[in-house]
Parts: sequence; C-alpha cells; structure tokens
Amino acid sequence: MSRRPLLAGNWKMHGTRAVAAELARAVAAAVGPVADRDVMLAPPFTALDVVREAIEGTPILLGAQNVHWERTGAFTGEVSAAMLLETGCSHAIIGHSERRQLFGETDETVARRLAAALDGGLVPVVCVGETLSERDAGRTEVVVRRQLAVGLGGVPPDRLARVVVAYEPVWAIGTGRTATPEQAAAVHAVVRAEITGLAGTPVAEAVRILYGGSVKPDNVDALMAQPDIDGALVGGASLTAEDFTRIVHFEEAS
Ligand code: PGA
Repeated sequence: MSRRPLLAGNWKMHGTRAVAAELARAVAAAVGPVADRDVMLAPPFTALDVVREAIEGTPILLGAQNVHWERTGAFTGEVSAAMLLETGCSHAIIGHSERRQLFGETDETVARRLAAALDGGLVPVVCVGETLSERDAGRTEVVVRRQLAVGLGGVPPDRLARVVVAYEPVWAIGTGRTATPEQAAAVHAVVRAEITGLAGTPVAEAVRILYGGSVKPDNVDALMAQPDIDGALVGGASLTAEDFTRIVHFEEAS
C-alpha cells in the first residue's frame, strides 16, 4: 500500500486529565517506535495539553475532536484551529456522527470546519457514514456521496490530498456490530470514486480513507487487508492501551 496507514483513537468525552495522561503514557510505551504508520490520539479538549506532554518525543500525533470555522469571536463553547495548533494538535476530527446526530452538525458546517482546519494548518479527519435506516433503504451510496460532495466539494483539488476521510457506518459505532470487511471495502471504493470525481485520480489515490465502527483487536487485520482501507478511527477500543496497541500493530499478527 502506498498510502501511509493512520490509526486514530477518538476518546470522545472520556478521561479526566489524570486518566488521559496515564492512558497516553501507556499507549506511547506500548506502541513503541512506529516507522511505517501514523498514530493519533484525540482526547477531550481539556486533556490536550497533558496528553501532548505524555507523548512528547514519541511518534504519536495529537488530534482534536472538533474545530470551529471562525478564527476568533463570540462563539461560546467553540475552539479555533489556531487554538488547537498552539496546544500541539496536528489533526482535527470533523463531522463525527455524534456531532451530526446529537449536536446539529450538517454537511454545510462540516464544509466550513474543513476549510478552517486546512487554512489553519490542521489535517482534517472528516467523518461520513449512513444510519441503519439509510442502509436498509439502500441509500448508503447516495448518502455518503452527498456528505462528501457537500463536505469536501469546496476544497481546491490540490488541498484535498491532505484530507483524511473516515467512513463510519452509524449502526456500527459503539454497537459491537462491525461492518464486514467486504461491506466496508465497498463503501470505501465509493468514497474514492466520489473523490476522484471531485479532484481527479492522483488526489483520490493519495487521500487516506479510514474505517471506523467497533474496530477491535480481533477484526482489525481483516479490515486492514482490504485495499481501500487505509487505517482505523477507533472509539471504545482506544480507551484500553493494550487493545489500541494491538490495533496499531495490525499487520504484525498472523
Ligand atoms: P467505536 O467508535 O470504535 O466505539 O465504535 C468509533 C468512532 O465513533 O469513531
């Protein structure tokens, strides 16, 4: 695979500063040196600085779970790209399904956050994915293509190559019900086809597409064996250093 795998842990709203620092230290120690893949941790905003300290000198990257589209202003509860950058973040998750479902995030707000992340020098990790009712209605492809067309459509092709896309079927998130490698691969191919339409083949070939949704030590190898799956966005299993480390080292088990 020419694309560098990215294994990302999304800690969601888990972890006081002490707990987060300890988990980050445990992950860093267990993961060890990783030359051929990227590893990223996205703790809650309040733990970003202690996690940054815990991973200093290691290859582990720091990500935020969201980023606002404005640089500064009266936006209570929001955090800008510059603020994240100065806290040590290199990445920002955008449009996670929990943001979409629980906090009113739309394809349009995703597009605005994405532009701000790129302007601010962050690598965006843009989440897309269908709900169970959309899948059952046979609308998976339509939904994912729309999320990408609106969310990524305003990005100039030369900048799109930096974007990471995470395909996360909503029905697989936190449910223990993973998409089969074949189901995931089929949608990843759709994602790459849509990006090809937006920005051309070389850009689409460069974009990393992660799978997310109940990724665990016992299913990561089969998922990562699919040609279009370039990494994983991991929720629950990223809260255990041992499980996340096993996921990071996906190829090493047989
Ligand atoms: P999960 O979460 O691994 O707990 O299913 C994935 C995600 O929400 O990114």
